[in-house]
Amino acid sequence: MLTSKEYSDYINGAIKSLNLPGGKLAGLYSPISYALATGGKRLRPMLTLMTCEAFGHPVEEALPMALGIEIFHNFTLLHDDVMDNSDIRRGRPSVMAKYGVNTAILSGDTMLSLATGLMLKAPAATMPAVMECFNSTAIEVYEGQQLDIDFENRNDVSLSEYLEMIRLKTSVLLGCAAKIGAIIAGASDNDADLLYRYAECLGLAFQIQDDMLDVYGNPEFGKPIGGDILNDKKTFLMLSAMSSPKAAEMRAAMAQSDKSSKIKAVTEVYDALNMRQLCSEAVERYSLEAISAIEKANIPEENKVCFRKLAYSLSERQV
Ligand code: IPE
Ligand code: IPE
Ligand code: MG
Ligand code: MG
Ligand code: MG
Repeated sequence: MLTSKEYSDYINGAIKSLNLPGGKLAGLYSPISYALATGGKRLRPMLTLMTCEAFGHPVEEALPMALGIEIFHNFTLLHDDVMDNSDIRRGRPSVMAKYGVNTAILSGDTMLSLATGLMLKAPAATMPAVMECFNSTAIEVYEGQQLDIDFENRNDVSLSEYLEMIRLKTSVLLGCAAKIGAIIAGASDNDADLLYRYAECLGLAFQIQDDMLDVYGNPEFGKPIGGDILNDKKTFLMLSAMSSPKAAEMRAAMAQSDKSSKIKAVTEVYDALNMRQLCSEAVERYSLEAISAIEKANIPEENKVCFRKLAYSLSERQV
């Protein structure tokens, strides 16, 4: 198995050789190159490649699909930044901020089609299963994004509704990334489902960590602090605070109209509730659930190591 760095170098190399058209259509394609070149952890394509290799299959065969998943992910980020009104992505101006909303929509649409085109490169025997997984996952992501937006205007969102929303907006794509690697490798349905479950749990941990980083992250590396607070996003932190004895304080903090006072007041409630620790515990719970799925999978013991490592590394991520 390759190391994380080797997988991401491999993916970055493939992104560099995409050769997107320029010339008169630079207005459509330059933002795509910009979005794909501005870093990113490459977690999803890594899962596709890792899974394919874990079942003893040559990693090259999964590369177009891994790339397709990463382009799809970046497409969702272009539209997500429009929906969340986010000017900064990966420490740089988002496509929306740099090129405008129309470009974020249309270059995003183009990325979806580029991603689909790459999925169509799956070996013929695996193609129907790959396409079915990719397409049904895409619809689930849109459903999750709609729920995320709907929840901004609701004050009665439960933790289980939240978990279903993050499963849809974030986890299913990680699940799909891992499952496609297993399908390409010719793994059994049961093993493909276990890998899906592994990555799905990883996705829940990942999104809770993402919610935590909105408050406690380092803005130098990624996104500015407090975007979720200002958008009244129903995050793990907000729902936990709302169901705590500090619910009244939380409501008062959220009612502040000045942006920086609102972020400060909400953060104080979170601090008082030791929310950072609560998030870490939830992240650890889902990471352990991910690992328990991998233990059941029919892959050689030595190939399980990097899956465990990846699950543990999530709680240390800063961006
Ligand atoms: C950001 O995903 C969107 C979420 C689902 C939280 P990542 O944090 O994986 O984004 P990049 O690609 O590494 O920037
Ligand atoms: C993004 O969730 C999920 C998708 C793009 C599908 P967030 O809105 O929480 O992601 P960030 O925090 O902007 O990266
Ligand atoms: Mg969002
Ligand atoms: Mg967002
Ligand atoms: Mg977020």
